Amino acid sequence: MENRDVKLIEKILSLKRERKAVILAHNYQLGEVQDIADFVGDSLELSQNAAKTDAEVIVFCGVHFMAETASILCPDKIVLLPDVNAGCPMANMITAEELRKRKRELPGATVVCYINSTAEVKAESDVCCTSANAVKVIESLDAREILFVPDQYLGHYISTKTDKKMILWPGFCPTHVRIQPQYITGLRQQYPQANVVVHPECRPEVIALADEVLSTGGICRYARSEEVSEMIVGTEIGIIHRLKKENPGKKFIPASEQAVCPNMKLINLEKILWSLEEMTHQVKVPKEVHLRAKTAVDKMLEAGRI
Ligand code: 13P
Ligand code: SF4
Repeated sequence: MENRDVKLIEKILSLKRERKAVILAHNYQLGEVQDIADFVGDSLELSQNAAKTDAEVIVFCGVHFMAETASILCPDKIVLLPDVNAGCPMANMITAEELRKRKRELPGATVVCYINSTAEVKAESDVCCTSANAVKVIESLDAREILFVPDQYLGHYISTKTDKKMILWPGFCPTHVRIQPQYITGLRQQYPQANVVVHPECRPEVIALADEVLSTGGICRYARSEEVSEMIVGTEIGIIHRLKKENPGKKFIPASEQAVCPNMKLINLEKILWSLEEMTHQVKVPKEVHLRAKTAVDKMLEAGRI
């Protein structure tokens, strides 16, 4: 480890204790960030962790909607996002106003929003879901017609697992659409023993070629299983760091080196330190939005327990 990192890490850890803070990091974060986090996980695991932490400050190493979800669940805690520009382009593909308009056109539909959405959009939704529990949440609903926002590809994947009528918003993840089906077929020929595991944000043509379709947390769990020795990984490449760290004897092949989420890469050790020093950038959901957004997130957590 470089001297720069040792010094930075010492400062971060000492300030973290002083501030009574916890560092939560998403599976796509830079390796240096994952390595100093108290917990690394997928969107669902991170929100469950935020909900139960007794820390006073949550340093959220992920993108804006994740920090916002932590703030929705823990309104009395200080939630810090070390880079204010770390947004999710997919979450920005729908506004609350656009959703209200669509709801007027579909008065009978139950609105399910992917957690990759703003608090305002969550507030307009009946329930929220993540890639880990989407099918379970939708199947738990006493509804025939679902308006699913904003990810059309996760929505399409769910539609192959349920009899409910799914109406999809045309959003997508600009990182996952970079994974092309021909990359998977090419890699399968090169690594015939490998299991192909992809994230449900991938295009349907890619999903059709996969052995497993899992959230990032699911991918990490699956990688630990005995049946895996080589894995072609169809998601953002930041996850490869954790997969290699947890499974030193196994081989992990990214489906595409271009599957990089630039927003996830904005956070580094320096920014975590500055964030703890200056207590910036605080993410807080306005009162009028908070309660309605929390209802949608709570319903998701409740459905997950059933
Ligand atoms: P997970 O909830 O599977 O970690 O996915 C989050 C995300 O943003 C995927 O692009
Ligand atoms: Fe958003 Fe895609 Fe980045 Fe996930 S990988 S945070 S969905 S842009």
